[in-house]
Amino acid sequence: MNKRIVIFDTTLRDGEQSPGASMNIEEKLEVAKQLARLNVDVMEAGFPISSPGDFEAVKAISQNIKGPSICGLARATSGDIDCAWDALKYAEKPRIHTFIATSDIHLKYKLKKTREQVLEYAVAAVKRAKSYCNDVEFSAEDASRTDIDYLCRVVEAVIDAGATTVNIPDTVGYAIPHEFAQIMHNLKTRVSNIDKAILSVHFHNDLGLAVAGSLSAVLVGAGQVECTINGIGERAGNAALEEIVMALDTRKDIYGITTGVNTKEIYRTSRMVSDITGLAVQANKAIVGRNAFAHEAGIHQHGVLEERSTYEIMDATSIGLTENKLVLGKHSGRHAFERRLSELGYELSGEELEKAFARFKEVADKKKEIFDEDLAALVADEVHSIPETYQLEYMTVITSLEGIPSATIKVKSGGRDIAECAMGVGSVDAVYQTIDKIVNVPHTLIDYNVKSVTGGTDAIGEVTIKIGDDDSVYIGRGASLDIVEASAKAYVQAINKLVYHQSKRKKTNGSDNN
Ligand code: KIV
Ligand code: ZN
Repeated sequence: MNKRIVIFDTTLRDGEQSPGASMNIEEKLEVAKQLARLNVDVMEAGFPISSPGDFEAVKAISQNIKGPSICGLARATSGDIDCAWDALKYAEKPRIHTFIATSDIHLKYKLKKTREQVLEYAVAAVKRAKSYCNDVEFSAEDASRTDIDYLCRVVEAVIDAGATTVNIPDTVGYAIPHEFAQIMHNLKTRVSNIDKAILSVHFHNDLGLAVAGSLSAVLVGAGQVECTINGIGERAGNAALEEIVMALDTRKDIYGITTGVNTKEIYRTSRMVSDITGLAVQANKAIVGRNAFAHEAGIHQHGVLEERSTYEIMDATSIGLTENKLVLGKHSGRHAFERRLSELGYELSGEELEKAFARFKEVADKKKEIFDEDLAALVADEVHSIPETYQLEYMTVITSLEGIPSATIKVKSGGRDIAECAMGVGSVDAVYQTIDKIVNVPHTLIDYNVKSVTGGTDAIGEVTIKIGDDDSVYIGRGASLDIVEASAKAYVQAINKLVYHQSKRKKTNGSDNN
C-alpha cells in the first residue's frame, strides 16, 4: 500500500511573507476555508506574536476552521509560545510550531549564542509547547547549512523533549536535491529516536529547486512536506503545493506516495490566493498557469485531439479545470447559472447570488460566450467581504488622441450621491484623480495590473491594484468588459478596504485607551 505523507500548507504564514502579499483577517479566513476544502493536513495560520493582526487571524481560524490541524509559529521563547497557544487553543486540532536557527552562521551573527545554548533553548521551547498541546513541531532554521553532527544532536534532543514533527528547512534555498537527501539519510540513520517523530522538509526557491528538493526528500523518507499555494513566500518563494501534489500523483509509479489533497480544488485555490494577494500567476507556471494545459503548436493540437496522452501527462479536470470551458450564454437561466457556480465550488448567499446573476446577464448581453474563468472573475467582483462605504454609480470618461483625458464620476456613500470630475494624463489616471477628489483619504498607489481573463478583444479585463497607508497594503480587484471601468472598480474596492480597516483600527485604539 502507498505511504501517505502530511501536506503542511504555510500560505498564510510563510506565503504571506511574500513582499506585498499581506492579507487581512477576512481574507485569511477565506483562504483558510478554501485550504480546508483542498483538504491539506495542516495549515500554518500565522505567527501570533508578530502582530495583533496575525494573532487575531490565527485565533479566528482556530475558532472557525474544522478539518485540518491549525498551526501557529513561535520562536523558541516562552513569550512566543504562550502567545501562540492563546491564539490556537480554540482549534479542534492545534499544533504549536517552534523554531530556532542551528547553523553556525546564524548562531554567530544573528543569535550570538553558542551551540549548547541553542540546544537548551530548543529543548525548553518544545517542553513548554508540549505543556499546552501534544502536537508540537520543531524547526531547525537553516538546517541545510548546519553542521550535520550538531543537527543530529538537536533533532534527537527535541524528539526526546516531545516534538512530534521535526522540520528540516532549507531556509535560504541553498541545498541541491541530492545533497539534501544525504542530510535526510544521515538523520534517518544516526538519530536513535528518529522513528518517534515525523521528519518534515521545508524548501525555499532561491535556486528554483524547492519542489525538486522536496520530492527528493520524500524519496528518502520525509513524512511531511511544507509548501504554499502558487509557491508564494519569502524572496523567491516556497515549494509550490500544487506542483508537489501533482508530481506525487502523476508519478505514483516512482514515489508510491499518496496525499489527502483533493486535487480538484487546486485551480480554485490557486486563483483565490492570487486574487487575494494580488500576486499574479505566471502564464507558463506548472499546473496552474494559464498555459499549463494549452496546446499552441498544430502538431500538438492534432496529437491531443487524436489521443490526449500524446502530449498531456495530466488531465486538466484533475485540478478542477473543466473539460468544457464554454458554459453559459445570454439565454442561460438562473438555474443553470446557479448550478454552474455550485459545480465550480462557489457557495453564495441569496443576495450575493442575485448580484452575481444580474452582473452575468449584463455581461452575457455583450459577450457571446461566458467561460468558467469569466464566471470566477464576475463572482470575485460582486462578492465583497467588507462593507462598501463607496459604491460606484456612474462614470463617463472622455479621451481623444490630442485632448486631455477627463472623467466624471458619481459615487454613493452613506445614502448620499457625491459627484466630481477631474483630468489626468490618461483615462485611468483621470478616473483615479476623480475618485481621490471624492473620497479624500490619503494613500499611495503601489501597484496597478491589468490582464484579460480569456482571449479576444471582448474578453473580461481584470484589474488588480494595491494601495497603502502607513499601516498596511490593501488590494482591490475589478472585472469588466471595459478595462477603465474595471480600473475604477478595483480602486473603489481598495479604498473601501482601507476605510474599513482604518475605522476598525480607530475603534480598537479607542477601546485600548479607555
Ligand atoms: O524557512 C524557514 O526556515 C522557516 C522556518 C520558520 C520553518 O520558515
Ligand atoms: Zn520558510
